Amino acid sequence: MFVTIEGTEGSGKSSVVAEVVKLLEKDGEIIVRTREPGGTPIAEEIRNVILDKKNTAMDSMTEALLYAASRRQHLVEKVWPLSKEGKIVISDRFLDSSLAYQGGARGLGIDKILALNQYATDGFYPDLTLLFDLDPRIGLARIAANNNREVNRLDLEKIEFHDQVRQTFLDLAKRFSDRYVVLDASKPFEEVVQDAYKAIKDKLAKCK
Ligand code: TYD
Repeated sequence: MFVTIEGTEGSGKSSVVAEVVKLLEKDGEIIVRTREPGGTPIAEEIRNVILDKKNTAMDSMTEALLYAASRRQHLVEKVWPLSKEGKIVISDRFLDSSLAYQGGARGLGIDKILALNQYATDGFYPDLTLLFDLDPRIGLARIAANNNREVNRLDLEKIEFHDQVRQTFLDLAKRFSDRYVVLDASKPFEEVVQDAYKAIKDKLAKCK
């Protein structure tokens, strides 16, 4: 099973997923966590180019192509082989981030970015996508308050950009309602953990 975790900046997805993984492991599941852009050495090198704050001249389509290239490498080297072994692979961000950030907020168009990604991934989709929905104002304030979290090139975008990312994710959740579960990330941490855990357990029960 392939689960992807999506949301705007500072929505708490990584910390919540760390707790959910512990619960799933207690249930005897074998989980592999990974992230995009990155997840393998080549894909992490591409990540460094994309997120480098120096690269202010990067064209939006170049950005979209680099995300898709890093995704392809991540799938080939990691996600596909591990899924074949029957492991549950959980990726912090995947395809829908490209649709929301490059397709929606950068204005390249959802269908154009979807087509590009279908080409890059041979039409591969996650089994389950958890959307951590939160007002980006709250998320960005959390990042500003957290010294351990490095600020990247996309965090530096204007608030309107992040609002557009959030809205596009919500639109995608409607369009791909068969694989999306929307979580209210403004709830207390423990409740979000339980909501995310339940969504994965429900999907596992259906897949088995
Ligand atoms: P990261 O530091 O991993 O951020 P986060 O903790 O919010 O996941 O940086 C990833 C950034 O890249 C984030 O701003 C979202 C963006 N992104 C895209 O714009 N398109 C994509 O396809 C992906 C995977 C990420």
